[in-house]
Amino acid sequence: MPLVEGGAVLRKALEGKYAVGQFNINNLEWTKSILLECEELKSPVILGVSEGAGKYMGGYNTVVGMVKGMMKDLNITIPVILHLDHGSYEGAKAAMEAGFSSVMFDGSHYPIDENLAKTREIVELAHSKGISVEAEVGSIGGEEDGVIGSGEVADPAEAKALVDTGIDFLAAGIGNIHGAYPENWKGLDMEVLQELQRTVGGVPMVLHGGTGIPAAMVQEAISYGISKVNVNTELQWAFAEEVRKYIEAGKDKEGKGFDPRKILAEPAAAIRRMVREKVEIFGSANKA
Ligand code: 13P
Repeated sequence: MPLVEGGAVLRKALEGKYAVGQFNINNLEWTKSILLECEELKSPVILGVSEGAGKYMGGYNTVVGMVKGMMKDLNITIPVILHLDHGSYEGAKAAMEAGFSSVMFDGSHYPIDENLAKTREIVELAHSKGISVEAEVGSIGGEEDGVIGSGEVADPAEAKALVDTGIDFLAAGIGNIHGAYPENWKGLDMEVLQELQRTVGGVPMVLHGGTGIPAAMVQEAISYGISKVNVNTELQWAFAEEVRKYIEAGKDKEGKGFDPRKILAEPAAAIRRMVREKVEIFGSANKA
């Protein structure tokens, strides 16, 4: 199956009251684990690529080539959306040029008028190529790939203006942050989420910072219109934990234990387990 844009998949999720996971990829093992697990679960999936991860993997063309090749070789039949995460204006254009099927243009650090104007341009270009667009108001707290947000809660009027530019899905700050949540975190602001959904009704909304949010809270947010949940750090923790165990147990010193395919086998399996756990929470199994 070719890559698909994200609008139709997420509108179906909104209607069906489940969410599709965006799992960020960093390399081949990440990509393969996520695709195989979602195929087994018959869940649609969004592969998220930050600008930093895109550069790390060699560039957007490399990413597109790897994902498309893998889907063919592994007979992946579920809908797969290849999505640029927190793209800059130039980054979003470059990812579209390389063949991504969806982009996030994150103009949340611009004054609102500039965010609106730039989003409008990206939407026009993206839609002329059948590519979906995510945009953001408010900001997601924490740090991701050098982009630091202070976690400002979205203003419903600004959210409405952003939706009116024609975007396909909306990311809005509702007290969520990237990475670990602090001990004294107050939780997601369900009041703001409900007000946003009333204001922009019918447009799927995105929950960034999916790591460490209790399952029941994620499910409550899904019931209020969250249709896409982004998870990155939790996969990195799961992967790193298994790498550490392998090395600490001295397995790289036993026989051919230094073979990268052996070193990365358990870390890759840990990613699969984490993806399964999330898909079950999000309710997207058997929705492909
Ligand atoms: P976490 O790293 O907190 O899971 O957030 C991921 C994310 O929102 C990617 O955009």
